[in-house]
Amino acid sequence: MMMQTSATTGLASNATAAQQAVPVSPLAPRRRQGHLVVQGVSKRFAQRDSAPAEVLRDCSFEVEPGRLTVLMGPSGCGKSTLAYLLAGYLAPDAGSLTIDGMPITQAGPDRMLVFQETALWPWMSIVENVMFGPLARGDMSRAQARQAAEALLQKFGLVGFGDRYPSQLSGGMKRRAELAQALINSPKVMILDEPFRGLDVMTRELMQEYYVQLFEETQLTTLFITTELEEAIFLADRIVFMGTAPGRIVRGLEVDLPHPRTIGSMTSERYLEIKKDAMATLIEYGAVSTD
Ligand SMILES: Nc1ncnc2c1ncn2[C@@H]1O[C@H](COP(=O)(O)OP(=O)(O)OP(=O)(O)O)[C@@H](O)[C@H]1O
Ligand SMILES: [Mg+2]
Repeated sequence: MMMQTSATTGLASNATAAQQAVPVSPLAPRRRQGHLVVQGVSKRFAQRDSAPAEVLRDCSFEVEPGRLTVLMGPSGCGKSTLAYLLAGYLAPDAGSLTIDGMPITQAGPDRMLVFQETALWPWMSIVENVMFGPLARGDMSRAQARQAAEALLQKFGLVGFGDRYPSQLSGGMKRRAELAQALINSPKVMILDEPFRGLDVMTRELMQEYYVQLFEETQLTTLFITTELEEAIFLADRIVFMGTAPGRIVRGLEVDLPHPRTIGSMTSERYLEIKKDAMATLIEYGAVSTD
């Protein structure tokens, strides 16, 4: 519950909120900002009956500003742990994590984390859910928050649904409302941890198109975690692959498909070359079955 509050508001860091003056509108194009650097990060978790489990070993990678970086790797390799470290919910045992050169020490509205699990409060209407972060921090008046929320609901095809409650929305609509709930905070970086897992195939494809379109309009620095290779290639400017036991970074792959990305991007010869190359890495590091 505490994590959910932090994810939607970044309440832990008012200092970061004050520093974050631009951009004013959540949908305005970003000037290149939100450079994440992970350097030599290791993490162990204490275990009750045995030595601490080593989850991440010496992980280094960057999320470049204005680009969409995908983090891929087998289940349990530590992707979510890296997301929590970047969001500031966990601290590393070794190494450093920075945003625009500043150490990440706590949660803040400059880094919005969207999970697979819903972050919408069931007792609040959709528009109230979206308005919640900036109101809780005192960053906007009610009128400003409502105006910003309504612009975001319009952007995500949710006009007329603001007064409904989360239980009255479809899975895809909830995911869109959650994106609005994160974006209203004008983050410098979006960290999306398997946000579309569990949606049916058609809804998932629609959500990918929504996100790619939003990214292309705003150039909002994004770290997108997924285990789906086609989703990764469709979205990514760069894919960072992880291996497991212990979790480590094994490879970076540039995805030089042209923007804007469309369904047509996924039938080009270059797409197939990238997919073949990426498959070889996934097979090598045990992310897909070879039989
Ligand atoms: N709080 C914790 N305490 C102890 N072990 C943990 C904790 N959180 C995660 N782990 C362990 O760390 C490893 C990495 O977990 P993590 O959730 O980061 O993996 P993941 O790559 O996100 O997996 P998935 O694709 O299934 O979501 C797992 O072995 C998990 O059991
Ligand atoms: Mg995970």
